[in-house]
Amino acid sequence: MADYIAIFDTTLRDGEQSPGASMNAEEKIRMALQLERLGVDCIEAGFPIASDQEFEGVQKVAAAVKKPSVVGLARAVPPDIERAAAAIEKAQKPTLHTFIATSDIHLEYKLKATREQVLDQTGEAVRLAKKLIGRVEFSAEDATRTDWEYLVQITTAAIEAGADVINLPDTVGFTTPGEIEDMFKYVREHAKGADGVIFSCHNHNDLGLAVANAMAAVRGGARQIECCVNGIGERAGNTSLEEAVMAMKVRQNIYPYETGIVAEEILKTSALLGNITGLAIPYNKPVVGRNAFAHESGIHQHGVIQSRLTYEIMTPESIGRSSNELVLGKHSGKHGLSARCADLGYDLSDGEIKQLYEKFIELADKKKEVFEDDLRVLIASIRDESFETYHVVQVRTSGDDPAMALVKLRRGENQDEMFETSTGDGPVDAACKAVERITGAKGRLLEFTVRAATPGKDALGQANVTVEFKDKAYYGQGASTDIIEAAVHAYVNAVNKFLAIEGEQNV
Ligand code: KIV
Ligand code: ZN
Repeated sequence: MADYIAIFDTTLRDGEQSPGASMNAEEKIRMALQLERLGVDCIEAGFPIASDQEFEGVQKVAAAVKKPSVVGLARAVPPDIERAAAAIEKAQKPTLHTFIATSDIHLEYKLKATREQVLDQTGEAVRLAKKLIGRVEFSAEDATRTDWEYLVQITTAAIEAGADVINLPDTVGFTTPGEIEDMFKYVREHAKGADGVIFSCHNHNDLGLAVANAMAAVRGGARQIECCVNGIGERAGNTSLEEAVMAMKVRQNIYPYETGIVAEEILKTSALLGNITGLAIPYNKPVVGRNAFAHESGIHQHGVIQSRLTYEIMTPESIGRSSNELVLGKHSGKHGLSARCADLGYDLSDGEIKQLYEKFIELADKKKEVFEDDLRVLIASIRDESFETYHVVQVRTSGDDPAMALVKLRRGENQDEMFETSTGDGPVDAACKAVERITGAKGRLLEFTVRAATPGKDALGQANVTVEFKDKAYYGQGASTDIIEAAVHAYVNAVNKFLAIEGEQNV
């Protein structure tokens, strides 16, 4: 029987550390439930000591998911470990993940501690974690820059103290495939008790080698891959979940392993994360990018028409993308719309279908054909609205010099409408200033992009903004056939995220 590789998803923890990818508790729950459908083995839900909101987010994910293990992260110190244990104690299968840096660079400059001190702290931390929670993972942070003999001592100490999983992270994305394979083999061969634990890899992508390094770690004996959807994460990101999983599926002769992943859920999971965080998925992103299955050159198109095997190593259907991008029009009706959403894998409530239908008719009036990507954008927008503070009612702008804008917003359900006018450096700037006057949230627009969600001159424009509030970046996204309106929706979406995370009293 093929060896099983556990998929440990850290989108909600390491992924959430990507600038602007902060998620509130509701967003984490939505994402966690989708990760459960995707079939991941572990969901690292957050770092509970970081803040009360973070604690609450982890606690809620622990209560919401049933099958995967819910993981809480803690530094190797008692207050962190106790807080993480409290956040995950109600999970069906909790895992406490504690870590300490082990490289000489980190010991000298960050911890200002000796190797002996860190060795002792490892044992103490794992023992305490094990007393509080039945399953413990220990990570030797910066393992790939740690002296291998010392890494063996640390691993042995963690195993003796009760660790069930030993993670050897490439924290700074420094290693190479050959090196990490040898490192795993060496530590597994020399650490006492190595046969009784699972070894895990956690690779950052600073040199673009994260997935290759993860696959090499597996060849070296790792049986758990830590990864993030769309490869998000600190700096250049982490191992991309979908790339690692599909590498194993497509190249079974090289990687004869099994995972619990339902690959047909990959595209939906990727799109949901993109919608929640607003982090755009590059068109050429392997597996989930819009162009991943698009054949542009005549030679390729001709080949694919003869046989898909010529230029396709996996099918779009295998990751949940339909190759038949069925178009809907305004005569499609509510049933047609609902059936199409079900085909795309969305489980929408009656209320959501009703809301979606209204938006769909509005859009179908403006544009002849509605594509699947349009539907994804509309579904994301109604789901975003379910916990929004401000809702855009009207936007009017003029491009005179100076540009002017009138923006009308509604606050919460059944609340009064408020409007403001402003001038600005262009219509988008004027509209954002009007939003600021209404909401009181003072932001700085760092980035603004618009792109067509689908082909055609009448395409739905999808706007993404990055706005800085109180020194922290928030992403927002919005869609409309009018690009200025799309920008205002995106800006208000970022304001809503800021308010949901900061609390309205703190703006
Ligand atoms: O990159 C890293 O070392 C980490 C650890 C906390 C596992 O994220
Ligand atoms: Zn990391």
